[in-house]
Amino acid sequence: MNTTSAPRHFNNISDFSSAELDALLDRAQYWHDALKTPGFKSDLLVGKILFTLFFENSTRTRTSFELAAKRLGAEIVNWDVKTSSMTKDESFLDTIQTLGAMSPDGIIIRHSEYNAPNFVAGHVACPVVNAGDSYRAHPSQALLDALTIRQCKGRLQGLTVAICGDVAHSRVAGSNFVFLSKMGVNVRLIAPNFLIPEKLPAPDIQTFTSLEEGLPGCDVIMMLRIQKERMQASQIPDDLTYFRDYGLTRARLALAKPDAIVMHPGPMNRGVEIDYDIPDDPQVSVILKQVANGVPARMAILEKTLT
Ligand code: NCD
Repeated sequence: MNTTSAPRHFNNISDFSSAELDALLDRAQYWHDALKTPGFKSDLLVGKILFTLFFENSTRTRTSFELAAKRLGAEIVNWDVKTSSMTKDESFLDTIQTLGAMSPDGIIIRHSEYNAPNFVAGHVACPVVNAGDSYRAHPSQALLDALTIRQCKGRLQGLTVAICGDVAHSRVAGSNFVFLSKMGVNVRLIAPNFLIPEKLPAPDIQTFTSLEEGLPGCDVIMMLRIQKERMQASQIPDDLTYFRDYGLTRARLALAKPDAIVMHPGPMNRGVEIDYDIPDDPQVSVILKQVANGVPARMAILEKTLT
């Protein structure tokens, strides 16, 4: 039970200790196992009503938060920016205060502005859950990624994970760096110079500018899409050249450990950052396992923030 009067948010991985993250992973695993029962539903959040505020498009994150809430008995109100009074020039703050005045039990928000969920948390009385903000953070993705790695490898501590591609514009990378480093993972970043962030969010991250140099010894290869919507037109590399230089091919995959797994948060662009057939190879790809783990990971997050 939440014994403090202040609401508990889930906006930044850095707010949690490694012991808390470990406990959250255990709860996510618990819900993962519970979901094996067909039609599983818990009444943990019965009577709670959550708002989802998605200012950016989403397939996986939005749907799995909604499923997670429903599996736990909560109800969801999907607020839609396109049909809201923001189209009548209402400010973001006024919109947030208006929604907050209706006393939801929780708000799940995705926004393109840096730190938007933390800003919202300062203006509403309920818990706020970050479903991805700007290029800064995507903490629920980091939890489901860590859950997937732990299931496949049996541990996190001591593994070597390479995060490859457009790291500079990736909130997935931003939260994964922090989460994985806290759990004792050796994190590598593999990207062309112009896609390496100026400031790395966690210490001890090794950087490489080629897959050939960075992949040997890796247990996990996490590929990232080029976030064209966060780049100026002149910065966007052409797809064929990018694939030639930084695409994950079978030959490059063979440089990692023989039992290495391939991950991708999605949406993926086959033939750009990853070769066409690799995502469909069940021997190496755990991409759909990540998607499936989105539900129990988000159940654990809703449990932590709302009970
Ligand atoms: C990512 C996102 O939206 O942050 N996808 C996701 O949530 N699984 C990554 C992306 O957009 O490339």
